[in-house]
Amino acid sequence: MRLVTRRSGSHKGGGFCVLILAAGQGTRMESSRPKVLHPLGGRPIASYLLRAAIALKPSGIAVVVGHGAEEVQKAVQEVVKEYSIQRPLTFLRQKSLTGSGGAVLDAAAFLRKFETAMVLCGDTPLLTYETLFALLNSHRDQKGHAAILTAKLNHPKGYGRIVRGPLGDVIKIVEEGEASPKEAAIQEVNSGAYCFEAAPLIEAARDLEPSGHKREQYLTHCLERIRAKGGRISAFVTQTPEEILGINSRVQLAQAERILNRRILDRLMISGVTVIDPAHTYVEMDVEIERDTVLWPGTILRGRTRIGRECRIGPYTCLSDTTVGNGCEIVSSHVSGARILEKSTIGPFAHIRPETIVGPRAKVGNFSELKAARVGFGSKVPHLSYIGDCDIAEEVNVGAGTITCNYDGEAKHKTIIQAKAFIGSNVNLVAPVKVGRGAKIGAGSTITQDVPDGVLAIARAPQVNKER
Ligand code: UD1
Ligand code: CA
Repeated sequence: MRLVTRRSGSHKGGGFCVLILAAGQGTRMESSRPKVLHPLGGRPIASYLLRAAIALKPSGIAVVVGHGAEEVQKAVQEVVKEYSIQRPLTFLRQKSLTGSGGAVLDAAAFLRKFETAMVLCGDTPLLTYETLFALLNSHRDQKGHAAILTAKLNHPKGYGRIVRGPLGDVIKIVEEGEASPKEAAIQEVNSGAYCFEAAPLIEAARDLEPSGHKREQYLTHCLERIRAKGGRISAFVTQTPEEILGINSRVQLAQAERILNRRILDRLMISGVTVIDPAHTYVEMDVEIERDTVLWPGTILRGRTRIGRECRIGPYTCLSDTTVGNGCEIVSSHVSGARILEKSTIGPFAHIRPETIVGPRAKVGNFSELKAARVGFGSKVPHLSYIGDCDIAEEVNVGAGTITCNYDGEAKHKTIIQAKAFIGSNVNLVAPVKVGRGAKIGAGSTITQDVPDGVLAIARAPQVNKER
């Protein structure tokens, strides 16, 4: 059979699917974790292409899993849940890992339901929705049987080379291991993203000869076969070649982190956030920051961190899964799982742990550690304190070196400090204990009983001055 014409109609509407290949072993990562589950920008590698592909609104989307299948499937399902992805997702199992061509063949029953299939490699997370959409449109315009997304690289090492004929038409893709010196010198490479008409792809994927030192069936060989049967192949050259980076090793993972981080920082800067030194600022994918906030060098923002307007973050600050209100300042501190309410100041050198709420207009200063604590409006924990399982109401001053003794070796207990209390320096509050409203505690006291409102409590040995 020769494929001289393509079926009429296009992949608009019901006829278009996306197939993401993610079954490979990822040998070059030297890892016990499946490659597509390594974190990139704080999210699994697999999550990026999945979201870009879903934005294309295909009629079907499938992920081919194999190596670490259960783990990959579970992680992808979590991504689907977290991003509230509604579109149904199919998982297909590649029985034996015989290469990218084998993966496509194992997906034949799925592919057959569609006219056009976009095939993507799960390890190319930087490909954007815009580029994939342009590839799809190019395929649609060309009305051929396959379109390859290609890029021109100064250093094409590691990628399949695009071999073109004298008239510029694409003839085949040659993997680096099999390339002649002349082919190896070609700078146009295969991104691993393609659009195929499904029927000729399935036919071409049958009985692929094993190739290379791993004796794998190469998806890329399908193109030659389609061409040999009269099919037409086009190439769409991306203008943003850095997008095609394939992550095969930890070195490439680090390259991807750098590119992605710059992309995230550019997005923030365009939306009104000042980033003093992008080369020394790391922000993960899901972080949100409002206008006129300034990020100083050495800032690391992770997970679901949200920062309001006109904050100053850094230098040298790490926030994870933390919410920061407007007008806060956080300098040289570590904060995770906490809420910092507006106009509060943190640091330098504070450690704020999960379930802590600070502010508004509160201050946590040098060498203070907080855990499951609330520091109310205008209250201060300025120096050298440990405040754990503690509720501090408004306008409380906690003196330098104050410690909540919250753990008796078996259980944790709570400390309550009511409004306008004043805790002198170097006080131990042995929980469970309550300090009343407006009460004052003398420096160096070890408080083991509740302190009523408004009193002065002193619990330390009286000073004795002796002749010497
Ligand atoms: C592949 C392309 C190469 C291209 C490069 C772009 C082939 C033969 N070569 O090379 O032309 O320049 O990507 O990044 O496709 N996979 C399976 N099942 C398997 C083997 C692999 O699903 O049995 C999946 C992998 O999970 C991966 C993709 O196929 O997502 C590509 O496999 P990989 O081994 O990374 O191919 P490359 O050598 O990078
Ligand atoms: Ca790869």
